[in-house]
Amino acid sequence: MEDDLSEALDTRQNAAATDSAQERPGAPRDAFAKAFNFSRAELAEASGLHPYFKPIAAQHGGTVQANGREMVITGSNDYLGLTQDDRLKDAARGALDDFGTSCTGSRFLTGTLTLHETLEGRLASFLRKEAALTFSAGYLGCLSVVSALAGRHDILYYDRENHASLYDAARLSFASVRKYDHNDLDHLDRLLQADADKPGGRIIVSDGVFSMSGHIVDLPGLVELKRRYDARLIIDDAHATGVLGENGRGTGEHFGLEAEVDVIVGTFSKSFASVGGFMGADRKVVQFVKHHARPFIFTAALPAMQMAAALTALDIMESESEHRHRLWQNVARFRGGMQALGFDTLGSETPIVPVLVGEDDRALAFWKGLWDEGVFTTPALPPGVPPGHSIIRTSVNANHTDEQLDRLLSAFETVGKHLGVI
Ligand SMILES: Cc1ncc(COP(=O)(O)O)c(C=O)c1O
Repeated sequence: MEDDLSEALDTRQNAAATDSAQERPGAPRDAFAKAFNFSRAELAEASGLHPYFKPIAAQHGGTVQANGREMVITGSNDYLGLTQDDRLKDAARGALDDFGTSCTGSRFLTGTLTLHETLEGRLASFLRKEAALTFSAGYLGCLSVVSALAGRHDILYYDRENHASLYDAARLSFASVRKYDHNDLDHLDRLLQADADKPGGRIIVSDGVFSMSGHIVDLPGLVELKRRYDARLIIDDAHATGVLGENGRGTGEHFGLEAEVDVIVGTFSKSFASVGGFMGADRKVVQFVKHHARPFIFTAALPAMQMAAALTALDIMESESEHRHRLWQNVARFRGGMQALGFDTLGSETPIVPVLVGEDDRALAFWKGLWDEGVFTTPALPPGVPPGHSIIRTSVNANHTDEQLDRLLSAFETVGKHLGVI
C-alpha cells in the first residue's frame, strides 16, 4: 500500500518535474505545483501515523466513538463539558425554529438579529465592560479587533507564544510587530524602551492562557508596563473564560485586574460549547471595531443556533459554579498523576496539560501508542512548538470521570515506559 502510494506520488512528482524542465526560462511556473508535490500527509496516512483529522462518530462526556470503538478523549476544549448539555441543545433548537438556519448576510446589512444584541448585552455585563460584540468565529474576532485598532503607525507587542489568530491579525493590520520571548517581561520592557521615541500608539497583545503550554500570562507585569509606557492592552481569553477567576470571567478576574484589560477577546468554541467569538471593551472601542473591522463586516453574521447555545452556556456559567469546580478537581487529579509518573508537563497551570515527548518521530510514536491504547488525542509538532519539543497536548474537562482520568494515566504510563519517556 505504502509502495503503491509512493509510486503514485513519485509519478506525479516526476510529471511536475518534467513539466518544469520543459518550461521556458523565465516562463511562469504552475503555482499549484506545491500542492501536487505535497505528499507528507498521504505518506503518513499510509503508514498509520497521521494523527490529524480523525473523524469522531459520536461523543458522550469524556469519551468518543472513533475508529470503530469507544475511546477516552483528551485535548478537546469543552472545558465545562457543556457540549452535550440538553439545555444548550434545546436552546439551539428553539433558536432554529425562531430564526432559521442562517443569517445569510453581514451584521452590517441584513444579518443583525435581536439575539445578537441580547447576547452582546449579557456578555458585556458578564465581562464587566461597557459593551460587547460577537463575531462568527473567535479567529475572526482576533482579526477584527487587532486589524481595526492597530493603525499604520502603531506598534504591536506580541508574546512569541500568542495564538496564530493573533499573528494573522497582525498581518492584516498595517502596524509594526515586535515579538518578546514567552512571558519574558524584561524583554518586553527593553522593546518598549527601544521604541520610546517612535510616533504612534503601543498595543500589548497576549493570550490570557497560552493554548499549547497552558501557562497563564503575567498580567500584573503587563499592566505595570502598560501604565509605564502608556500602552493599550488586548488579552485573548479564549482558554480562560469560564475557566479562570472566581466567577469564570477569565484572566482579569483571576488577578483582580479586569479594569486594566482594555479589550478582552474570546471564543464560544471552548467553555461556551458553541461556535463564534466575542470582544468586550469600552463602548466607543466596540463601536469603532463594529464600523471598521473587515473580518466583521465582510462575512455572514453568527447564526442564531450558536448564539442560543452560547447564551445558555453563559446562564450556566453564571449560576452553576460546580462545573468549574469539577474541572479544577479533574485538573488536579490528572496533572498530579502525570507528574507523579515522571512526565514533564512544562509548568502548565491550567486544564491544558502539555506532555513533553521530544523529537517529532517520538511524538508520533507516542500518539500511535496512545491511539492503540484507546486514547483519542493529538500531538503538537513544529512549527506549532519549538523543534525537539514536540508534545502531546492533553486537556481535562469537567465531564471526565475519575475512571476515565485513570484510564488516561494508565495509557500514558504504558506508552511512556515503552518509549522511554518516563
Ligand atoms: C488562543 C486562541 N485564540 C483564538 C482562537 C480562535 O477561536 P475559534 O475556534 O473560535 O476560531 C483559538 C482557537 O483555537 C485560540 O486557542
